[in-house]
Amino acid sequence: MKQKFSPLVNKVLLFIISISVFFSIITTAFQLYGEYKLSEQLLYKNIDHIEKSYVPTISDSLFNLNNEKLLIELNGILKLDHLVYASVYETPDSAQFFLSTGSPKSAWSVKKTFALFYPKSYGQGKQKLGELTIRISYEKIYKELFQKLFIILFSNIITIFAISLSIFLFIKNHVTRHLSQIAHYANDLNLNEDKPPLSLHRKKILFRDEVDELCDSLNGLRLRIRQDIYSLKESQEEMFRMQKLESLGTMMSGITHDFNNIMRSIMSYIELGQSTCTPQSSTYENLENAIVASNRASELIKQILYFCKQDKPNIEIINISDAVLETLSLIHASCPSSIHIDSKIEKNLHINADKSQIIQVLLNLTTNSIHAMKGRTGNLFIELKKITQSHQAEYVSLDVTDTGHGIPLEIRKKIFDPFFTTKSNEEGTGLGLSVVHGIVTKLQGSIELYSVVNHGAKFTILLPMAVAPLKPNISSFAPDKTKTATILLIDDEGELGMLTTKTLTRLGYQVIFKASPADALTELDKPNSKINLIITDFTMPTMNGIDLAIQIKKKYPHIPIVLSTGIISNSFQKYIQDKIIDDILQKPYRKNELSNLIEKNLQKFSYNI
Ligand SMILES: Nc1ncnc2c1ncn2[C@@H]1O[C@H](COP(=O)(O)OP(=O)(O)OP(=O)(O)O)[C@@H](O)[C@H]1O
Ligand SMILES: [Mg+2]
Repeated sequence: MKQKFSPLVNKVLLFIISISVFFSIITTAFQLYGEYKLSEQLLYKNIDHIEKSYVPTISDSLFNLNNEKLLIELNGILKLDHLVYASVYETPDSAQFFLSTGSPKSAWSVKKTFALFYPKSYGQGKQKLGELTIRISYEKIYKELFQKLFIILFSNIITIFAISLSIFLFIKNHVTRHLSQIAHYANDLNLNEDKPPLSLHRKKILFRDEVDELCDSLNGLRLRIRQDIYSLKESQEEMFRMQKLESLGTMMSGITHDFNNIMRSIMSYIELGQSTCTPQSSTYENLENAIVASNRASELIKQILYFCKQDKPNIEIINISDAVLETLSLIHASCPSSIHIDSKIEKNLHINADKSQIIQVLLNLTTNSIHAMKGRTGNLFIELKKITQSHQAEYVSLDVTDTGHGIPLEIRKKIFDPFFTTKSNEEGTGLGLSVVHGIVTKLQGSIELYSVVNHGAKFTILLPMAVAPLKPNISSFAPDKTKTATILLIDDEGELGMLTTKTLTRLGYQVIFKASPADALTELDKPNSKINLIITDFTMPTMNGIDLAIQIKKKYPHIPIVLSTGIISNSFQKYIQDKIIDDILQKPYRKNELSNLIEKNLQKFSYNI
């Protein structure tokens, strides 16, 4: 059966009825008691009147034995309210004289006696003459109260019930009705649906109350939960994207390892080829061009790796001019020919940053510019310069200017928000500028934007300058005699090992090449071993370069170890700090890079022949 009223209304109704009955009884009892006290006061007034008016005259009449007058006076007493009996007799014996009127045995009556004295004129003074007895009946008072009881009780019940009912109706109309509306709304709430917020349609009363607050809280809660669900979904999507990027990074690391080895072979062969012809010959020049092209290829792969890797930022003093120049080659490779790229890069500017993050910033900005000029011809201009602000602080300013469609005023504040994009799902995630903003603010920098719709946009990144690190002049402490040093080379890839051996030999070093870590350890343990430096590959099937270095350093801490790897990762720096390896040779490398690195490490370990 459907309930006519809500449970709360039923409860309140029951409460109101009980409260009305209870308080009606209490107030009725008080009112009746008041009425009783009033009637009793009247009664005492009559007794007082008898004592003051009747007692002296009755004393006189009794002294004169005037029966007629006595009877009139006793009847006069009976006429007073609530008096039902009056009698008079002469002392000492009532048998001497006795006169009475009314009924002596009336119900609910009490007796009252007054002493009668001789008149003052008689000279007997205060001597008792007789007694006046009266009976007062409460019967009339009780009857009256009984009659009033029902009227008072009934009117009280009606009044209290009416007041309670009006309060109840007010509460029902202004509170419980809305509470059930709120409860229904909350029950039917589907957070995935775009339902309008709850509105109670209440009449405007003077001020807002708790029901309005409850409604607002529910709407606020709904909004917050929706936002939380939204950001949860967004972060899930972002997580998937990150995971994809991470696996792409891992895959890229694998590919680049092989790619770097191939590049290393190509470059070594070219360098070997160059050494067999004169620098003036056209073959030498062609081979030099081949080296430049190979370098560009390896730089390109390096940039892709920087972009994919998810390491913690490695903040250090970097040459931002070099980083921007490196990135430019990547931008050139991915930019359509309809866009003309121009740049003005001030050399040797240094900042405190993670190089890969700076590359990421520049790539994000230029990608946006290229997008903004999609399908039309345009100019992309990248400028890097030093600027000094009013308070003498020096900054590096990186400008990316395009002649694209520009950014309308109404979205300028939003473009740095994560996931804000005007592009389709396939074209953009809306993360680019938020990543740029995050990186720049962490580096204590700032971003400025200037844009005219349909004419283009200019992003200016300001980053605090750092003092350039002092470059050790390797050649100054690299005596020629280091070239006589013996180098132990370990690489599982025989062909690459042979090639590096050739390069090292041409550089003048004694080389012992081993294709496995076990052979290398045996070589070191030989009693007449004269190894001055070790170059080991990182990725090897039986034991990786780091594990090999740990074993070697335990026995031969004085021999410098250089780890050769195609993997770009900050994690290798830790092994240098822990003194497991001494340097990293990033593959693919050129002959003079290899030579400089060897000389530097031999010198560091006080190599002296
Ligand atoms: N140079 C620009 N010219 C015009 N609009 C731009 C430019 N740079 C950014 N925008 C606007 O700012 C929005 C946000 O850029 P952001 O780089 O954060 O994300 P996205 O490019 O849309 O996506 P993602 O970078 O994640 O692929 C872009 O969708 C675009 O509308
Ligand atoms: Mg972008």
